[in-house]
Amino acid sequence: MAVIDFTQLPRRNKMYAGANGNKICVMYEGLPYMLKFPPAAKRNKDMSYSNSCFSEYIGCQIYESIGIPVQKTILGTYNVKGKEKIVVACGDFTEPGVTLQDFASLKNQMIDSERNGYGTELSDILLTFEEQTALDPVALTERFWDMFITDAFIGNWDRHNGNWGFLYDTRTDAMTLAPVYDCGSSLYPQADDAIMESVLAKPAELNYRVYEIPTSAIMVNGKKLRYFDFISSLQNEGCNQALKRITPRINMERIRQIIDETPLISDLQRRFYLTMLAERKRLILDFSLSALEKREHS
Ligand SMILES: Nc1ncnc2c1ncn2[C@@H]1O[C@H](COP(=O)(O)OP(=O)(O)OP(=O)(O)O)[C@@H](O)[C@H]1O
Ligand SMILES: [Mg+2]
Repeated sequence: MAVIDFTQLPRRNKMYAGANGNKICVMYEGLPYMLKFPPAAKRNKDMSYSNSCFSEYIGCQIYESIGIPVQKTILGTYNVKGKEKIVVACGDFTEPGVTLQDFASLKNQMIDSERNGYGTELSDILLTFEEQTALDPVALTERFWDMFITDAFIGNWDRHNGNWGFLYDTRTDAMTLAPVYDCGSSLYPQADDAIMESVLAKPAELNYRVYEIPTSAIMVNGKKLRYFDFISSLQNEGCNQALKRITPRINMERIRQIIDETPLISDLQRRFYLTMLAERKRLILDFSLSALEKREHS
């Protein structure tokens, strides 16, 4: 696959917020794209830049393969003062009269509560789904749990209330679910070659990265939850239903193909991503689904 060089494309004045790396807006084939540049690897001192552009690209391709609406992504390069950087272009899904509003803003509308828009306590989030009137509460709740299961699969640290949301049509006042965006904190973006080698060689290192980290951005009693513990506990019916909906839609053959066809990554990265995804599916999702089916049959 030919890799696109985004350097010479026309720029737009549109700006993007977010804490994970620089961003600019360019026009590509007549459409606006947000270009995300790799952020510094803050948690890993041995690494200069994180792999979050690859995480964004592969995470979004996986969402698409599962059938959840997601931003379009393209991997490419951008030349900054003679240095080539790997960037991910994310199709801008807003349009004139249609703006993105995040879930944090919807949560801020709950004026009779102390709930802060960015607070991620699960019970507050679920209560907001019931109390809000902008969207169908069933569709909203299902999207939340479908994302939760998919994020568990791709190991996403950071689905905070600013990292999903709605498209608001300022002309008609209509609100719809926005495509999924920001998967940049999935798939261990700060794992360098030494970490990847060690995870592939040592079961304890791998198990730690399946059962313990990443945690979800969602909290229960003030503590970020562990995907395995929460999903396998079968304690939330919305989560159980999403587990049943999403797990059969994960096609590991298709995912192998996505990773095989991802440009600009090393063989080690390919093996690492594929191994982690296969193991997360087997140990978290398949395990929990079979426990759920057993419980339902008995
Ligand atoms: N495809 C898109 N189209 C339009 N706007 C987008 C798109 N993707 C992201 N945005 C907007 O740009 C902001 C920054 O993007 P993104 O969340 O990907 O960056 P980030 O730096 O990884 O964020 P974070 O601080 O959550 O780590 C988002 O919060 C959202 O408002
Ligand atoms: Mg973000």
